[in-house]
Amino acid sequence: MKIIVTGAAGFIGSHLCERLLRDPSNEIVGIDCFLDSGTPPWIRERNIRDLLAHPRFAMHRSHLLQIDWDPILPGTDVVIHLAGVPGVRSSWAAILQPM
Ligand SMILES: NC(=O)c1ccc[n+]([C@@H]2O[C@H](COP(=O)([O-])OP(=O)(O)OC[C@H]3O[C@@H](n4cnc5c(N)ncnc54)[C@H](O)[C@@H]3O)[C@@H](O)[C@H]2O)c1
Repeated sequence: MKIIVTGAAGFIGSHLCERLLRDPSNEIVGIDCFLDSGTPPWIRERNIRDLLAHPRFAMHRSHLLQIDWDPILPGTDVVIHLAGVPGVRSSWAAILQPM
């Protein structure tokens, strides 16, 4: 299956991508803009380090509102949407900027 995972560099998204890639029939497209929401950038980079080396994983460093979906969506079987700002206070603050 072709599976899109938003928030792929996040805590849950990165682990989910690793798990999904154990199935050799899965191809994963990760989308993440490395949002400055309190998590240091090096942690997000560490989350996806091994994924980037995987032949069935592709990463798009884009904001969900700015990405060009046309070349990405065709052939997609599943979209798992995990991009978000965990934490009530931070998610209600001013618009967060990508790192
Ligand atoms: N971790 C938990 O215990 C928990 C519990 C309940 C719900 N959730 C929800 O699950 C989701 C993932 O949580 P997490 O702990 O992995 O958070 P996380 O902050 O580690 O990961 C979220 C990722 O989404 C990305 N992101 C946010 N907005 C984006 C946008 N507009 N475009 C592209 N990328 C964007 C961030 O850069 C980040 O890498 C969140 O929606 C969170 O609210 C988490």
